[in-house]
Amino acid sequence: MVDVAEDGYLLETRGLTKRFGGLVAVDGLALSLRRGEIRGVIGPNGSGKTTTVNLLSGLYRADTGEIWLQGERVDRLRPHEITARGVARTFQVPKLFGNMTVLENVLVPALAALARRADRAMPEILERAHRLLEFVTLERLCDAPARQLSGGQGMLAQIARAFMVHPLHLVLMDEPFAGVHPTIRDIIMESIRRMNRDEGITFLVISHEMAELRRLCARVSVMHEGRLIAEGSLEEVANDAGVLEAYLGR
Ligand SMILES: Nc1ncnc2c1ncn2[C@@H]1O[C@H](COP(=O)(O)OP(=O)(O)OP(=O)(O)O)[C@@H](O)[C@H]1O
Ligand SMILES: [Mg+2]
Repeated sequence: MVDVAEDGYLLETRGLTKRFGGLVAVDGLALSLRRGEIRGVIGPNGSGKTTTVNLLSGLYRADTGEIWLQGERVDRLRPHEITARGVARTFQVPKLFGNMTVLENVLVPALAALARRADRAMPEILERAHRLLEFVTLERLCDAPARQLSGGQGMLAQIARAFMVHPLHLVLMDEPFAGVHPTIRDIIMESIRRMNRDEGITFLVISHEMAELRRLCARVSVMHEGRLIAEGSLEEVANDAGVLEAYLGR
């Protein structure tokens, strides 16, 4: 297996395009993520950020363009095949199985992998699940049905579930900080930092929270009308005339 794409990127898109009827939601996107980076993605409402994550996670199929992951073309793969290649995601509005317990929800990726091939034993899987739940402060709720969680707790459960994907290379997070309590925001920040530092996980974090992105990301990408209009440090893009124009409107 190729460990890293030859040009040194973990993930690369070329000319990625998604249309909904006459609307071009993602328009010729060329995005490159280096292994081990935490990349921020910003952009006004409707600029194509969530659609991009839906394309990268295999939920949507691109009309044209390519997605390369570790030297392999993956834009025709289904969501579970993308997950099996080490890409996990969280949703803008938490998607959990409400009648299952918090622990059961977090176990889903590991159980799905177990059904394919047993690369980890159950005790090891359970140990990691409990450790992750403890880390995101949900351990005391592990036997509660997921429907009892608040929005912020649901986000934490989704994050713990994403970290259960094994092997894990890339986590795509769609607005993890939106509408969550500052305490939970700090736990999310710390979990991203820790997984990046300790396990070398690469992150793509969509957010409108500039303070969080400034602390997390050396580099942010700015989307507008489905296109990448700027890239650089948050300071650099915040002073970019095109970005200001995109946010303020013409
Ligand atoms: N399933 C869909 N069917 C039709 N149009 C869609 C669909 N998903 C997204 N769109 C449209 O595509 C455009 C991009 O939407 P997207 O959700 O990717 O934006 P976003 O950058 O995530 O916005 P926000 O900041 O509000 O979350 C919008 O105009 C949206 O209405
Ligand atoms: Mg969105």
